[in-house]
Amino acid sequence: EKGGYAHFMLKEIFEQPRAIREATAARLQGGRVILQDLTMTEEEIRNIGRIIIIACGSSYHVGMVGKYNLERMLRRSVEVVLASEFRYSDPIVKRGDLVIAISQSGETLDTMAALREAKKRGARILSIVNVVGSSIARESDDVLYTWAGPEIAVATTKAYSTQMAVLNMLGLYFADILGTIDRQTYSEMVRDMQRVPEYIEKILESAESIHDIAREICKSEDVFFIGRNLDYALSLEGSLKLKEISYIHSEAYASGELKHGTISLIVDGTLVIALGTYGPLFDKALSNVVEVQARGAKVLALTTQTHAEEMGRHVPMVMTIPDIHEMLLPQLGVVPLQLLAYYIALERGCDIDKPRNLAKSVTVE
Ligand code: F6R
Repeated sequence: EKGGYAHFMLKEIFEQPRAIREATAARLQGGRVILQDLTMTEEEIRNIGRIIIIACGSSYHVGMVGKYNLERMLRRSVEVVLASEFRYSDPIVKRGDLVIAISQSGETLDTMAALREAKKRGARILSIVNVVGSSIARESDDVLYTWAGPEIAVATTKAYSTQMAVLNMLGLYFADILGTIDRQTYSEMVRDMQRVPEYIEKILESAESIHDIAREICKSEDVFFIGRNLDYALSLEGSLKLKEISYIHSEAYASGELKHGTISLIVDGTLVIALGTYGPLFDKALSNVVEVQARGAKVLALTTQTHAEEMGRHVPMVMTIPDIHEMLLPQLGVVPLQLLAYYIALERGCDIDKPRNLAKSVTVE
C-alpha cells in the first residue's frame, strides 16, 4: 500500500508531480485556464464584493500564498482568516462577497462552521476540497476539487500543493475576466504552471542531498524560518511541517520582524532556515542572512538556481529550486521543505505518518 516507500508521507511527497498534473491538466488547455466546474457567470465574477479565504493549518498557509498572488493578479484586497477565528468574529460579509474555503478533508469542523456563518450572511461559497462529496463540498455553491487522491499521512503534502495550484488557476481565471492581468503574465503563468510537475520531479531527484542536510541539523532543538512576501507564506508551512512531525520547536517569522523581537533569540549555533527564493527581494533575504550569522546563527538557505551561487558565497548549506514565474515559487519551494521535515523526523525516529496528538481530520473544536 505504501508502494515501496517507508512512509505514506514520503510516498505522497513523491506523488506530487502526478497529483498536480491531475489537478491542472483539464484546467489548463490551449494556453488558457478553463474552469468547467465553476458555475459563476462572468457577470457574477465582475460583481464580487470582498474576497475572503478561510481555512485551518496548512490549508490556511495555502490561503496566505493565495493572498499574495490573488492581490497581485486582481489588484484588490484579499483577506485570509483562520476559520476558528472567523467563525466567532461576527464577520463582516454580505451578499456578493466571495468566501473561499480551503480543506483537504472537507470535514474540518472550524472551516465548516465558518462557511455556515458566511453563508448565513449571504456570501457565496467556493470551496477547494480534496475529498469528493465531503461535508464542505456539499454545502458550497461551487467546488473546485484538487484531485490529489487519498492522502493518508497526517502531515499534508500533495493536498497542500494541489490546493495551491487550484487557487492560482482561480486567480488567473478571475484576473482574465476582470482585465487585471496583462497578456504576457497570463501566458507565462499558464506555461509555467504546466512545468511545475517536471520541475518538482527534478527537485525529488535531489532528495538524498536533502537527507544529508537533515543528518547535519537533526539535533537542533529550536529552528527559525524566515522569509519575506511569498517566502514568508512558505516559511509558515515549512515550519509547521517540521514541528508537527519532528517535534522540534520551530517558528516562522517575516524577516522584517527580526529586529522587533526575534533576533534576541538568535545565539551561537541557533539554526535559521532562510527562504530566499523570491527574486525581487533576494537582496533583502541575503542581508537578513548576514545579520543572523553575525549573531552566530547556523544558516540553511533555500533559493533559486539564479541566486544559488551568490547565496552559496555566504551560506554553507543551500538547497536550490529551478527558476519559475515568481508567483509559482512556493509550488516548488515547499518540496525541499517537506523532504527536510521528513528526513529530520526520520533521523529522530519519530512516528512520521501519525504524529502524537494529531488526527488527519479535525472534526472537533
Ligand atoms: C498539517 C495539516 C493540518 C491541516 C488542517 C486542515 O500538515 O495537515 O494543519 O492542514 O488540519 O485540514 P483540512 O485541509 O482537511 O481542512
